[in-house]
Amino acid sequence: MRKPLPLLTAHPTGRSAMTCRYRCGDACFHEVPNTSTNEYAGDVIARALSRRSVLRAGAVLGVAAAAASAGIAGPGAGSAVAAPQGKGHHPHGGPHGKPAKGLRFEPVAPNTADTVTVPEGYGQNVVIRWGEPVLRGAPDFDPTRQSAKAQAGQFGYNNDFLTLLPLDSRHHGHSHGHGADQLLVANHEYTDEELMFAGYDPEQPTREQVEIAWAAHGLSVVAVAGERRTGALHAVPRHPLNRRVTATTEFQVTGPAAGSALLRTKADPSGRRVLGTLNNCSGGTTPWGTVLSGEENFNQYFANAERVTDPERAATLKRYGISGGASGRRWEEFDERFDLTAEPNEVHRFGWVVELDPYDPDSTPRKHTALGRFKHEAAQPRLSRDGHAVVYMGDDERFDYFYKFVSKNRMRRGKSAEDRRHNLSLLDEGTLYVAKLTGDSPADEIDGAGTLPEDGEFDGSGRWIPLAAGDRSFVPGMTAEEVYVFTRLAADKAGATKMDRPEDIEPSPRTGRVYVALTNNTDRGKDGKPGPDEANPRNANKHGQVLEFAERRNDPTSRTFSWRLFLVCGDPQDPGTYFGGFPKDQVSPISCPDNVTFDDYGNLWISTDGNKLGSHDGLHGVATAGPRRGEVRQFLTVPTGAETCGPLVQDRRVLVAVQHPGEVDGASVEKPASTWPDGPGHYVRPAVVAVWPEDGSHVGR
Ligand code: FEO
Ligand code: CA
Ligand code: CA
Repeated sequence: MRKPLPLLTAHPTGRSAMTCRYRCGDACFHEVPNTSTNEYAGDVIARALSRRSVLRAGAVLGVAAAAASAGIAGPGAGSAVAAPQGKGHHPHGGPHGKPAKGLRFEPVAPNTADTVTVPEGYGQNVVIRWGEPVLRGAPDFDPTRQSAKAQAGQFGYNNDFLTLLPLDSRHHGHSHGHGADQLLVANHEYTDEELMFAGYDPEQPTREQVEIAWAAHGLSVVAVAGERRTGALHAVPRHPLNRRVTATTEFQVTGPAAGSALLRTKADPSGRRVLGTLNNCSGGTTPWGTVLSGEENFNQYFANAERVTDPERAATLKRYGISGGASGRRWEEFDERFDLTAEPNEVHRFGWVVELDPYDPDSTPRKHTALGRFKHEAAQPRLSRDGHAVVYMGDDERFDYFYKFVSKNRMRRGKSAEDRRHNLSLLDEGTLYVAKLTGDSPADEIDGAGTLPEDGEFDGSGRWIPLAAGDRSFVPGMTAEEVYVFTRLAADKAGATKMDRPEDIEPSPRTGRVYVALTNNTDRGKDGKPGPDEANPRNANKHGQVLEFAERRNDPTSRTFSWRLFLVCGDPQDPGTYFGGFPKDQVSPISCPDNVTFDDYGNLWISTDGNKLGSHDGLHGVATAGPRRGEVRQFLTVPTGAETCGPLVQDRRVLVAVQHPGEVDGASVEKPASTWPDGPGHYVRPAVVAVWPEDGSHVGR
């Protein structure tokens, strides 16, 4: 199990160059977009604060939060909180006995098999693949006869975020005997043209290929039916609630920057109507039954930044990683809105959090300007005790930030049309904050190798710095509209902490503590780049870390929090790794944490993107509380070239989105690197997979 496996690629992210080109427009090959001189936590510790004052701040936070049973109160505090503790509890010795409930499966060893590898005793099925019909009238998938019209009614490409929403009797009535019991919503982040089209020529895509790609982006809403005896899940094509949203679906722009001059274009002088959503990575499910989705690497779709001469415009484009001439997919040759010289403002209309009401197939989805514009990995909502909506968001770029939004108004529990309208406007008004973290150990104890500081933990306190609320800007020199449209620049000025690629963020439904996946940052500590700080403690960070924080008094609207690193990922034999204090010889290796979710027991499940330990990506479960805190156990691995996305853990099944299988340098339709899921002779296809215990019991019991 520990045998070092051959590395798949030498690319800095651990990904193939093909992934880089198609997914993020070679973001990692470009200069880091954040070159602001904004202080990072290490500087702050060294220059501004004495050790004593930091400790005092930490202690106050710890006490306040502990009172709310959710504090980050120092080493060992984890075992004091939550989670039922059975006979296996050994407060002073090593952990013996069984893993935490929900994680009792035989861990899957790291491997490079071109399949979904699951634990012994578990079955699996493909729920839906790229190209399967979703809407009435859509044809079955035929890779030799693809058309934009067909794709617009079929499941899109590169499924990422997944969520399942309940269908009540009202919707069952819709199902016409199909037996659908849940609604699956999936993001389609991007397209891999070389794996979609035989003989694809990247220099000369055809109009049909480009329009197929537009239709393969976006989101899908698909009713699904579970099998009674197993956890298998099947798509219900042509259900009345099924829907496709694509790169050309009309969106309404809402919130304080809607209608701004920065958002007006020739095609939309109102600045309130946008066609399409792009690069939808992860997302979240709101307590009012809608879906949020993050527009992430939108930079790659826009061409000719190099010909923009206005210095101010050029600077904002650069800060968003928008550079070069022709775009990778050359959409600008088919629609001039993707050409920055022809339409300067279209690029400002992407990079938002979008909200979709999956229960109303005729509704116009929204782009929420109040939540800021950056490379949105995800958007995870929760409610405060008195009903304010809070949304956590990561900006997935090296040295970028994580944010939260707090709504001004409160959610209504009622079910009337008026209540629904009210809830759908919750994200239009509120305050946008960015996170600043301060470590509690002296800067010279953070050595860049991951060695724990003397106090035994990477931990400290944090502040939410307000950027804007409604029409009010808190950033000197920027209007509120500018803060929303150029949020990265606003956060630079506010002095936010430069993190190691903040991805998914999710609060534990059990403890209220919040978990931030920080994927990696191989530029940390490079010449001229920020060095290590207590929250990002490793130079040339290949494997990433998971940060845990507790809002003060466990109140999500709070302005301060305490934090510590829960996992410092990598090979457990590497001394620079940390697994919540759990014995390292008893955990599965984990690299590049990306998307996170919780099971009913409060265990954190983490999917990976770009494993740098030589294995395929996978899905891991880990207890966050109790005597098994930090015990990482690998549940599955995905096929060659794929990333594990959209994990969901239900009582009787685990759902994952297998994204970009076969995405390996040099691979094409003619020379596939993977033939998953249908085997030789078939196109490799991204797909959603359900995994379940074959004996019909609970996952991991
Ligand atoms: Fe779409 Fe940050 O990964
Ligand atoms: Ca510390
Ligand atoms: Ca991701």
